[in-house]
Amino acid sequence: MVKIDLGACGSFVKETEYQNYVAKALKAFDTLIAEDGAGNDFLGWKTLPIDIDENLICKIEQVRDEWKAKGVELVIVIGIGGSYLGARCAIEALSHSFVRPQGTPQVVFAGNNLSEDYIAELLDLAKIRNTACVVISKSGTTTEPAVAFRIFKEYIEQTYGKAEASSRIVAVTDAHKGALKTLSTQEGYRTFVVPDNVGGRFSVLTPVGLLPIALAGFDIRAMLKGAAEQRVELLKKSETNAAVQYAAIRNLLHMDYNKAVEILVTYSPKLVYLAEWWKQLYGESEGKDGKGIFPASVTNTADLHSMGQFIQEGSRVMFETVIKVENAQREVKIGTDEQNLDCLNYLAGQRVEHCNAMAQLGVKVAHIDGGVPQIDLSIEKIDEYNLGAIFYFFEFACGVSAYVLGVNPFNQPGVEAYKKNMFALLRKPGYEAQTEEILKRI
Ligand code: PA5
Repeated sequence: MVKIDLGACGSFVKETEYQNYVAKALKAFDTLIAEDGAGNDFLGWKTLPIDIDENLICKIEQVRDEWKAKGVELVIVIGIGGSYLGARCAIEALSHSFVRPQGTPQVVFAGNNLSEDYIAELLDLAKIRNTACVVISKSGTTTEPAVAFRIFKEYIEQTYGKAEASSRIVAVTDAHKGALKTLSTQEGYRTFVVPDNVGGRFSVLTPVGLLPIALAGFDIRAMLKGAAEQRVELLKKSETNAAVQYAAIRNLLHMDYNKAVEILVTYSPKLVYLAEWWKQLYGESEGKDGKGIFPASVTNTADLHSMGQFIQEGSRVMFETVIKVENAQREVKIGTDEQNLDCLNYLAGQRVEHCNAMAQLGVKVAHIDGGVPQIDLSIEKIDEYNLGAIFYFFEFACGVSAYVLGVNPFNQPGVEAYKKNMFALLRKPGYEAQTEEILKRI
């Protein structure tokens, strides 16, 4: 379960101001529960952890087991934005940082960029691995994953033959529409559905996230359990509800204290993609109508040696939300050295995680002194259960927070702007009129 502690904001805001925003957040909570706010046709994510059908989980596990039986060593997951960040977050957090367990495929991601070098290097890897592919696109029309899929589909068909390719490619897309749906039906791919009422960045607990996570060897049932239990907690209307508190304090800091940037701070390289997932969730949900808090992130202690200076003494526009993990999964102690040339004997016998914890406390005091309020969130450990809980926590809090801000959390109209220009420049049929216009401006 996610716990929240606002003690490190106490010296920045007055209790009465905070209570005022708690009242706003409770009103927003009511809107989210009553489902009568903006974007209320995209609230399917609220019940995903309890709605999920056992047959769907079995179908996911069947793909995992079949590919294992085929000796698949590499799974290329193609998708962008909400169609890959949740899966990548979970897989990076749960995987061993350096060693892959025997018999478990390596899961890698494509279709989230248009870098030719990246695709060429991934083809190099596919050529020396027994390869399968999952292509994910809710709309089924997004250019980046479509380009990558065309390339890897061709590679898989040429390498394994067309018939075998159709058992090595699985699609996750809309139930009825989109180019990917049409193509999958024609080619006979197994498909999973992204529910109509779940937007991309809220879809990690659908097959969009669950299929890649299961293929990487992780326990999706435990993840759903964590999300379901977090949901029970968050449905309790109370001023101590963690999502209400988070929504209240971040809006107070933003609106009354001109804090324009929220930095999600983690202290483990395993959580880099948790921050990437969170940035998309909050950035796309809140950044519209000229409003919103810019979501940024740092991974400490590495970034204390790059961004630390700015956070300590630069423009006072930011607050931090720190994710504390109570327990490391492994234990490594610092040894004694007779010569003590590195002068570290004062740490002899201590766990490395103790140093990490002291760094967190030291940073907290320094940043408070430097004028940076800190919201503390904590989870017990990095595992499937707690990741499920944190996914659900941030999604629910995002809905509440965006309603306090006064925006529709569930659309992303601004994402379209670049696409029209790119299509015109790529001379996509239908965009001819815009091409000359854009060429004149660049
Ligand atoms: O949150 C969203 O809706 C977006 O980030 C989408 O996930 C992203 O644009 C990818 O879209 P699609 O799954 O339709 O390819």
